[in-house]
Amino acid sequence: MKNAQEWLLSQNSYNQDQSSYDDVRLNQGKAVTISIASGKGGVGKTSISLKLSKMLSEQGYKVLLIDCDTNLSNTALKLGLPINNNFEKLMKSEITFEECLHRDGKFNLLSACNGSTELFESSKDHEKFLIDILVKVENKYDYIFLDSPAGLARETLTLNAYSDHRFIVVTPDKSSITDSYSLLKILNMNYGITENHLIVNKISNRNQYKRIVKTLSETVENFLACRLQVLGGIQLESGEVDLFDGLLFDEANISLHKSFINLLGRFSEQGVCEHYNARKLLAGTSQLRQEVQPIC
Ligand SMILES: Nc1ncnc2c1ncn2[C@@H]1O[C@H](COP(=O)(O)OP(=O)(O)O)[C@@H](O)[C@H]1O
Ligand SMILES: [Mg+2]
Repeated sequence: MKNAQEWLLSQNSYNQDQSSYDDVRLNQGKAVTISIASGKGGVGKTSISLKLSKMLSEQGYKVLLIDCDTNLSNTALKLGLPINNNFEKLMKSEITFEECLHRDGKFNLLSACNGSTELFESSKDHEKFLIDILVKVENKYDYIFLDSPAGLARETLTLNAYSDHRFIVVTPDKSSITDSYSLLKILNMNYGITENHLIVNKISNRNQYKRIVKTLSETVENFLACRLQVLGGIQLESGEVDLFDGLLFDEANISLHKSFINLLGRFSEQGVCEHYNARKLLAGTSQLRQEVQPIC
């Protein structure tokens, strides 16, 4: 006969089967699909995709991150995971979607390839393949993030147009702002996209942030029949370039972490992620109560 403690533990579903808890969703219906996009590369899309996906999964949401840069995949690399060619095998139907996933609790990652010659030479439409995956799995997740490649390639535009929301990432670099404006313009003119969200990354001070937001928002509103909803900014972290990925997941870096909390908070205020609770996240990080203010 079991003692009382063993009996109690055996009644606890978390202890019985952690993997079934990992499959529990918080929202009903189809996942909210968010593409993290930009005109120019190197602006922080992959970093932001990873951080937002991880934060929401830690809040109990079931999150899938798809690395849409199918042959220059960086997501697994940034998480320190081994590089593999599973995505190539998935495209050839040698393994299933489930077998291709990296799982960490409620965070699921579909990473892709790095310089696969087979993928490069394959005649398959990568974006159609990814959209077929999205259609099949969007009832299994609360949020699906697409780490979009930079640029104006047709595949990239199709994936961005398919998403429910687009978080456009710019940096203070003029070419990044111009290239993102070009992306917004083509999305608007050729795909009828009128609503996008803006994140300004690598900012040095509040004035710089305000200037960029004003310039881009006004240009978009005046020249395109389009609206940019501002989510906020993330400060430029100084120091060695390769240290940022480590800082990103270190909640002890309060001001960086709080910038991301603010982004999600504003997204929720804009009425598109109503179940998300920024206050809960804030409360979970005790040092945040020490009132460290991010730049914006
Ligand atoms: N706020 C920031 N401060 C400092 N470095 C950053 C910041 N955001 C991103 N980085 C760094 O910039 C580089 C490009 O980021 P990444 O996320 O790979 O961009 P993308 O996916 O748009 O190409 C990486 O070395 C990353 O660590
Ligand atoms: Mg990237």
